[in-house]
Amino acid sequence: MVDLHAHILYGIDDGPNTLEESIKMCKMAYDDGIRTIVVTPHVGKFPNTKEIITEKYKELKVGLSAQDISIELFTGADVELEPDLINKLKSSQFLTINNSRYFLLDTPPTLLPPNITDYVAALVSLGLIPIITHPERCLQIQGDLSFLYGIIKAGALVQVTAASILGKMGEDAKEAVIKMLKSGLVHIIATDCHGIDKRRPKLSEAVQLVSSVVGKNQALEMVTTIPQNIIDNKPLKLSEPKKPN
Ligand SMILES: [Fe+2]
Repeated sequence: MVDLHAHILYGIDDGPNTLEESIKMCKMAYDDGIRTIVVTPHVGKFPNTKEIITEKYKELKVGLSAQDISIELFTGADVELEPDLINKLKSSQFLTINNSRYFLLDTPPTLLPPNITDYVAALVSLGLIPIITHPERCLQIQGDLSFLYGIIKAGALVQVTAASILGKMGEDAKEAVIKMLKSGLVHIIATDCHGIDKRRPKLSEAVQLVSSVVGKNQALEMVTTIPQNIIDNKPLKLSEPKKPN
């Protein structure tokens, strides 16, 4: 499996504090069946740059090979939505997933900007595809899934958090994920892991639960072919979402 969203580099955001902890997280991911991880530290909330992330990524790569842990790592970032983002995106300083057209877009937890749909369309017209991270945890989306449908129709992808599916981010988030799955409003499941105790680097249990909602093949695609094609910068063949009631 592929984990597209992981706070697994140490000392540069609210993820692990030491290299040892980062390696323990990778070991936990490996034991869960994950073989590929995109390292995605916060950008915006923390002053991370392409150089800082790349340097830490290289350090973890060396650490993993020293411990014989066969996990492939790629660079990325969890990019906070901010007014000047489009200008930053145009700069070479910006980190997309493995330097592809796809990037994680971290949106506010309560209310999205009213022009988010136009904003997504503007990004798409620049050749960039935002992946909206964990909208199931956003209060506004929980109350109005048709808003999320509009954002997807504008060209965005949606990543949900494994812990939300398991009910660990509250009942409202879990309820929203199930409804989203039924309407085809989910493309990727990722861990958004931050440590070995909270939001852990595990996907398998969530995939099992999602299988019972959308079937095994579709659930597996969300942690295998879809995230792998994103890393490889390939266009995605996705089914049309249904307008939620
Ligand atoms: Fe995150």
